Amino acid sequence: MFIFKTMNKDKNKDKNDRVVLITGASGGLGRDLAKKFFARGYRLVLASRNMDKLNELKDSLTAGKRSSEIALAADGIGSEISLAADGIGSEIALTACDVTKEEDVLAAFEAAIENFGRVDILVNNAGIGLKKPFYEIEKDEFEKLMQVNATGVFLFTKYAHEFMEKGRIITISSIAGIVGAGGYSAYCASKHAVNGFLKAARHDLKKSEKEISISWVNPYKLKTSFDSGYAHKAPDYLKLDTKHYADYVVALAEGKGFLASCIFTRNLAYRIKKMIVKK
Ligand SMILES: NC(=O)c1ccc[n+]([C@@H]2O[C@H](COP(=O)([O-])OP(=O)(O)OC[C@H]3O[C@@H](n4cnc5c(N)ncnc54)[C@H](OP(=O)(O)O)[C@@H]3O)[C@@H](O)[C@H]2O)c1
Repeated sequence: MFIFKTMNKDKNKDKNDRVVLITGASGGLGRDLAKKFFARGYRLVLASRNMDKLNELKDSLTAGKRSSEIALAADGIGSEISLAADGIGSEIALTACDVTKEEDVLAAFEAAIENFGRVDILVNNAGIGLKKPFYEIEKDEFEKLMQVNATGVFLFTKYAHEFMEKGRIITISSIAGIVGAGGYSAYCASKHAVNGFLKAARHDLKKSEKEISISWVNPYKLKTSFDSGYAHKAPDYLKLDTKHYADYVVALAEGKGFLASCIFTRNLAYRIKKMIVKK
């Protein structure tokens, strides 16, 4: 709790011009990642297919920040209101992107370069799930999971290498990328593919001139609508709040390994507490 509060208290201290590109920003964890990075002073490139949701997220982020600028303005710098508002609005770029389409992935990086000149951090967050025994899965369903979860990460990582000189690539994989869980064979296959690809890509980067690091995280269940299509959903007490998980990802993205470990431990304690006091 102490660490979480400290991180939030210092949120504007770290104000800088770093640029983060987040895929799947319209969804549960993606939205909280956008909020946390924005609060830390990053400029955002938000990618997903649903532009209405991205626009709504942009409005909510800029509205929150504008209100604090306006409070400042009331102290005697009224003429700076519109300037400040324009400046804040231009800190967020939106890009319609299906991660399985190479042209959309390229367009996302081009939007980042056009708006901000570079990308410092890529968060591969977009993903879909499927819960069915393997013998009920259709070929199309299996291929879709592989395309969104694995090909999407491959394409974004490939173009990140082209467009980034240095920085970090963080991928939201899953515990399903480590273990095999009944009912999740296609999802496990896609996330194992992600983890295998990233492990090997790390080696490739040693031979590249780019100063780019690759890391990934393997969350268990998160409180999002990810499982809305599942016949049987996990109970809420097993799910971690996305804003807590986003703290962890942001700390990793900033290279704060010790802080990230502390947040990870706090998240674990929070989850255990929820399980113990479940109704
Ligand atoms: N929730 C969990 O329990 C859990 C556990 C472990 C790992 N994860 C991983 O965490 C990540 C985020 O999941 P979440 O829980 O936040 O899920 P979510 O609420 O369903 O959001 C998923 C996001 O992915 C985007 N997306 C889906 N297909 C896409 C495509 N073809 N192209 C571009 N974007 C696409 C969606 O945006 P659009 O529909 O607008 O495109 C949405 O923003 C995923 O990689 C997931 O595998 C989740």
